Amino acid sequence: MPTALITGITGQDGSYLTELLLEKGYTVHGIVRRTSLLERSRLRHLFADPEVYEKRLFLHYADLDDATTLRRVILSVAPDELYHLAGQSHVGLSFEIPESTCQLTSLSTLRILEIIRDLANPPRFYHASSSEVFGSPKESPQNEDTPFRPVTPYGYAKAFATQMVGIYRNSFGIHAVNGITFNHESPRRGENFVTRKVCRAAAAIKKGLTSHLSLGDTSARRDWGWAPDYVKGMWLSLQHSPAGDYVLATGRQHSVQDVVEAAFATVDLDWRQHLKRDERFVRKADPCNLVGDPGKARRELGWEVSIDFEEMIRRMTEAELENLG
Ligand SMILES: NC(=O)c1ccc[n+]([C@@H]2O[C@H](COP(=O)([O-])OP(=O)(O)OC[C@H]3O[C@@H](n4cnc5c(N)ncnc54)[C@H](OP(=O)(O)O)[C@@H]3O)[C@@H](O)[C@H]2O)c1
Repeated sequence: MPTALITGITGQDGSYLTELLLEKGYTVHGIVRRTSLLERSRLRHLFADPEVYEKRLFLHYADLDDATTLRRVILSVAPDELYHLAGQSHVGLSFEIPESTCQLTSLSTLRILEIIRDLANPPRFYHASSSEVFGSPKESPQNEDTPFRPVTPYGYAKAFATQMVGIYRNSFGIHAVNGITFNHESPRRGENFVTRKVCRAAAAIKKGLTSHLSLGDTSARRDWGWAPDYVKGMWLSLQHSPAGDYVLATGRQHSVQDVVEAAFATVDLDWRQHLKRDERFVRKADPCNLVGDPGKARRELGWEVSIDFEEMIRRMTEAELENLG
């Protein structure tokens, strides 16, 4: 059965992708970085499974800026498929830490491409690109041919990495794919992302643990989808030949306000009594008009989303209620 190597295995997407690949019979190897805490909560259920951990799921220490270790892990695992998901994934935070965001996002992708370029049998390579490469696009919806106009350090770093993937595909014949994914969410989303923050607050208010939710601009609009659908798209995109780039999106925009209303409706509360505007959370430069056209992924990969926005926010809010006991 095939072997996959995942960078960013402990993240939202890495954990769902691991489950999907294990279900499909893959042996899965993941790269983890050294941290002071050993808790890898999104994979905890897999560590507890004696049929899986260290039988079909293996972890290796490496950091994205440590080329020699990355090379050693890639050589020893010799994966058939390499999913490069690791990076600093928070767009707003990229204004606070632009240099490390670019180091981790742009240069690590180039570093891995350079390593696999030298291999006699390079793995198929998936790069987690982002809709933020479009930034402030002149056309809407965006597809694989839409020009990049990033407006954040994160978007610029992803644009560099995405174009490098195209260069290595065309120049060296590497089977390399960019998944240009629009925002995707789940109960495993990082706690400082707005959808998770809203669902968590609605649940905490319902439980009487807090009384209000502070947000910046609730009119900001995004194309939000369900993360497990997107990891399926990642896998499908690597199975397709010839390699290409794919926009993974729902094709529908919703506002932060819609997230608020759907989350508070789930817990049967009136959002007007709990929402406060806080200027500290207003983004410096906010990408606008981002909505994806997933037509190519539908046609070539048969990719479809399985649930809509309201159902996604309902599931996320219910998961928060459960977390809070
Ligand atoms: N989710 C979205 O809506 C979305 C949309 C477009 C693109 N993307 C991109 O897709 C990828 C996966 O997203 P996600 O939502 O799963 O992100 P996430 O939950 O933040 O996970 C990021 C992963 O990268 C790892 N990582 C960060 N810095 C590292 C380093 N220096 N060395 C090794 N590993 C490192 C993290 O490890 P730790 O657990 O140790 O922190 C974590 O496993 C990211 O590249 C993101 O930018 C995501």
